Amino acid sequence: MPQRLALGRTRGADSPRRALLLALLLFASVACSGPERTTVGQPGAPGVEDALFPSAGNGGYDVSHYGLALTYVPETNHLEGSAVISARATQDLSRFNLDLTGLRVRHAAVNGVEARFSRSEGELTLTPSHVIGKGRTFTATIRYDGNPRTLKDADGAVEGWLETDDGAVALGEPNGSAAWFPGNHHPSDKAAYDITVTVPDDGDGDSYVAVSNGELMSKEVEEDRVTVHWRSTEPMASYLATIAVGSFDIGEGRTADGVPVYVAVDPDEAQDSKKLRSSVSDIVTWASDRFGPYPFRSTGAVVDHLPDLGYALETQTRPYFGSVPDESLLVHELVHQWFGNSVTPRAWKDMWLNEGFATYAEWLWQEHTGGDTAQQVFDAFYEGVHPESDGIWDFPPAEPPSGVRVSDPPVYGRGAMTLHKVREAVGDSVFFTILRTWTAEHRHGNADTAQFTALCERLSGKDLSGLFQTWLYGNGRPAAA
Ligand code: TRP
Ligand code: ZN
Repeated sequence: MPQRLALGRTRGADSPRRALLLALLLFASVACSGPERTTVGQPGAPGVEDALFPSAGNGGYDVSHYGLALTYVPETNHLEGSAVISARATQDLSRFNLDLTGLRVRHAAVNGVEARFSRSEGELTLTPSHVIGKGRTFTATIRYDGNPRTLKDADGAVEGWLETDDGAVALGEPNGSAAWFPGNHHPSDKAAYDITVTVPDDGDGDSYVAVSNGELMSKEVEEDRVTVHWRSTEPMASYLATIAVGSFDIGEGRTADGVPVYVAVDPDEAQDSKKLRSSVSDIVTWASDRFGPYPFRSTGAVVDHLPDLGYALETQTRPYFGSVPDESLLVHELVHQWFGNSVTPRAWKDMWLNEGFATYAEWLWQEHTGGDTAQQVFDAFYEGVHPESDGIWDFPPAEPPSGVRVSDPPVYGRGAMTLHKVREAVGDSVFFTILRTWTAEHRHGNADTAQFTALCERLSGKDLSGLFQTWLYGNGRPAAA
């Protein structure tokens, strides 16, 4: 009402003011209209406000597909890439960011039209020639090249692009995928991938290739180069994308349930891939019985000689190992396919949903194969006599302090202990129903700790708040196990 009066008073009396008001009204009506008529927009946020990694990911859009075409020359460690990113705008977008660390951007386009771009730190900002309306799908195409970087994490671990004696491997947890392709590098934005890699054929027969996630769609051998095309149809968080370039012994087969197995083993690490292939099959079948159907179209492993790396990674469908893994580590990385890869944390602080579960699966496997029971392993952790129990009381697993190292012991050991306490409280039958319901309800999605604790209470009909308060959120070692 007062606005109307004000308008009335200006009418005819003060034409510049009237013009201004009209302009404002026009602006407001354009800004409020649907995607069809939008001419103004807002920049997408440079991060998704992840408490542990504030600049990870970007706001304003959702990626559905990455089409990466890469050419890699090992002698010069030179990577040339083209990334075609298909996305949907979640707001009227005047410009938006991608995460990219290092490399040179040569060209950028949105919907086929050249776009302005700028770089700062790990951010690549694209300004399309037109605002992208909320709800619209678009493609961003980025051509880039250079020597990809090896990144160092707060805990001293290396990730990103790692050179090997005969090629390279790309590992992306938590931030390293930005070192080899531009993207929305946060686990909350999962997407399908087609990754095509061309490498020189070193004349070594046809053993020299690039191995990646998903299924091998084609392999083309030309005179002096080999091109492989890998497809991940199911959504993948970018930290789980990988390529490994080198010479490999390839082993293929199927699990008892018919899931195709593809393992690639560096000849520097083992004579052949047969043993690894059969272990992968056995473990995936065992895990499917406990955690629900295997969530992807294929499985396997990559062993690429990098003995000093100090960790393995659950790269989707095909976990990576720097040396031949023991059974326990293989169980850990394969079980991540259910917990972490199919059901992915919405934010990095919920990492215990990955590591606690993969670690607990190691305990279950040990119990299954006649070793210590999960209770015995739990006791060894609680008493501090287990070799991996150092540091597990440093912080509450579901509330890692900012600046903390994302792969620290509480999320592993104490995360697994939490699951053991849930199992003890609800009994085996309800416990495994909880795990299978979790993997079914959040299959190929994102989830958080509150959803997990609510599920435990719903399926058991018990108030478990004390248990979770103590084991997930409490400081220090609980007084009683
Ligand atoms: N997530 C990996 C696993 O548990 C481990 C890992 C990845 C890691 N990156 C790391 C451990 C960096 C220490 C440092 O299988
Ligand atoms: Zn793990």
